[in-house]
Amino acid sequence: MGGGGLALGAVASWAGLRLDGGAAPAGEATASPGAPAYLGALTEPWQGDHQAGITTAPQGFMSLTAFDLRDGVDRVRLGRLMRIWTDDISRLAEGRPGLTDTEPELAAHPARLTVTVGFGPGMFDKAGMAADKPAWLAQLPSYPIDRLESQWSEGDVVLQVAAEDPSTVAHAARYLAKSAGDFLAVRWVQHGFRNAAGQVPDGMTFRNAFGQLDGSSNLQGEEEALVFIADAAAPAWLRGGTSMVVRRIHMDLDRWDEVDRPTREVTIGRRLADGAPLTGGDEHTPPDLDAVNALGFPAIDAAAHIRRARTPDPTQRILRRPYTYEASPAGVPSDTGLVFITFQADLPHQYLPVQARLAELDLLNTWTTPIGSAVFAIPRGIRAGEYLAQDLFA
Ligand code: HEM
Repeated sequence: MGGGGLALGAVASWAGLRLDGGAAPAGEATASPGAPAYLGALTEPWQGDHQAGITTAPQGFMSLTAFDLRDGVDRVRLGRLMRIWTDDISRLAEGRPGLTDTEPELAAHPARLTVTVGFGPGMFDKAGMAADKPAWLAQLPSYPIDRLESQWSEGDVVLQVAAEDPSTVAHAARYLAKSAGDFLAVRWVQHGFRNAAGQVPDGMTFRNAFGQLDGSSNLQGEEEALVFIADAAAPAWLRGGTSMVVRRIHMDLDRWDEVDRPTREVTIGRRLADGAPLTGGDEHTPPDLDAVNALGFPAIDAAAHIRRARTPDPTQRILRRPYTYEASPAGVPSDTGLVFITFQADLPHQYLPVQARLAELDLLNTWTTPIGSAVFAIPRGIRAGEYLAQDLFA
């Protein structure tokens, strides 16, 4: 194997992927059989108990579109859209163009494409489906830190498209939005990026725009019970589904520039260089919240982000899957931040307490401002022969 092949193999192992096209364990990505060994040929399974794009290892590029229902769109018409989208998703995820694709060549390189669909509270109300709306499905309470703008908030339906290639993401997001044109009107679009595949060493945590390792203490996808709804009392379309919170959080890079390195580290409670807690060890050493420094003060500040975000209750953890957005990096004010996305099985139990604690006290709030907010119910995955959320629309 030449040097290029070796490098690609390393990338594939980093992402937990297989380029050989051989039989892979369930849930593991594979290259299409016979496909040339390049990253764009990699696919993620679009069928299964859960939708793709939730516990999938985050791809480098993401586009999030929220839609409002057009007038007169009801359960029957939404069911029609779900059939169309299921066909679109199956094709795009396998590197095939949609039936009416006017740029079919752009579909040829799926690059681990995933599409995740969710429903906002407004969909149920407007489509005459209020009786099917989960009790928890509502916008978040308003917090004193919020400066929410309607251009980034709410929405009846959401589409998260992610892949390792921005051209693939752009094409898929546009095609799916075009398919929905008779049913839905675009409300907002948010784009985000992390590291492109293979650009940082194996297993390295993503760094956000403040230069912090972001994701050190996170569900890694293995704690499925905390991510996916298993409650026997939940409706069939939600069993295997989850809840999604989207917060657009502005990060004030201009004022962060004025902050010295020790203060930056105190703000989070971790070292910038390696993400280790200020109480020592490495990135994955648990922080010692009881430790005190030589002066007798807490070694991790009482208002440090990790102290306030952390929960002693292991059932209250959330899966964070954030992306950096950058609308205007330079000039004052800069317009950069996080498209902060979380998934959790039980939103009131897992998400709301941590959000309330952070809104009440968190040093990070000095430099961060939530400017958008939305909540969605994510239906379970598409099983063979089914269309998306068919239990809800049949
Ligand atoms: C722009 C806004 C934010 C930034 C820059 C940020 C950054 C970070 C960083 C650097 C860490 C430490 C590394 C890690 O464990 O991942 C962290 C941890 C964490 N953050 Fe945030 N965060 C933000 C907003 C939020 C929000 C809104 C929530 C929840 C509502 C949240 C929840 C958490 C949790 C649960 C942890 C892990 C705590 C632990 O178990 O140690 N963060 N965040």
